[in-house]
Amino acid sequence: MNEPLTLALPKGRLFEQVREHFGQHGFVFSLEDRKLTAVDQTGTLKIIAVKNADLPTYVRHGIAGLGVCGDDVLYEAGVEFTHLLPFDFGSTRMALAGLKDQPVRETAGSLTIATKFTRFTRDWFHALGTSVKIIRLDGSVELAPVLGLAPYIVDLVETGSTLKANGLEVREWLKSIGVSLFANPAYFKLRYQEITRFVDRLKEPAGS
Ligand code: PRP
Repeated sequence: MNEPLTLALPKGRLFEQVREHFGQHGFVFSLEDRKLTAVDQTGTLKIIAVKNADLPTYVRHGIAGLGVCGDDVLYEAGVEFTHLLPFDFGSTRMALAGLKDQPVRETAGSLTIATKFTRFTRDWFHALGTSVKIIRLDGSVELAPVLGLAPYIVDLVETGSTLKANGLEVREWLKSIGVSLFANPAYFKLRYQEITRFVDRLKEPAGS
């Protein structure tokens, strides 16, 4: 029997959603005792749990042949992978947000935006012909308008509760962000049949 397929999953809230979804399709696994690797009960998958933003690096270097993460993370990584399957869970939206009910005075027609999605933000606004000054943050970006670092943020919005709790509102919805399964292109060629079988199982109705 072949070695299990290696699959990188992001730690955090998406991990549980993927675990549940894969379990419904016969690939049951769990991480025990703070371990960051696991093999599913069928021996098909070796799971590697990594930090969201590091996930494309692991797949690009072939440490994991397969990965699951959001389009946002893939876009920031700027690497081409083989897309295998979009999922219907974990979707969010990228939004431009600012302080609620407060008009923002911009200098010389340029938007100042704090975000961790710097590549997306630059490309999005440049495509519109809008000049932007981007301030890079790694998290808790909602603080930026509140503390006066930048009048706007570009961030993922799921329920909207983080924005609301910090007195912010969406100024513009920018893009839907989905979650998908993808592969390192060389790994996909090498393990084509097993990967195809795995993807076909995931496409079957849950529990069948
Ligand atoms: C994400 C995002 C927002 C929040 C939105 O942050 O960056 O902060 O979730 O979710 P909501 O609309 O349901 O409130 P995440 O929890 O991934 O952590 P981060 O702040 O470190 O980016």
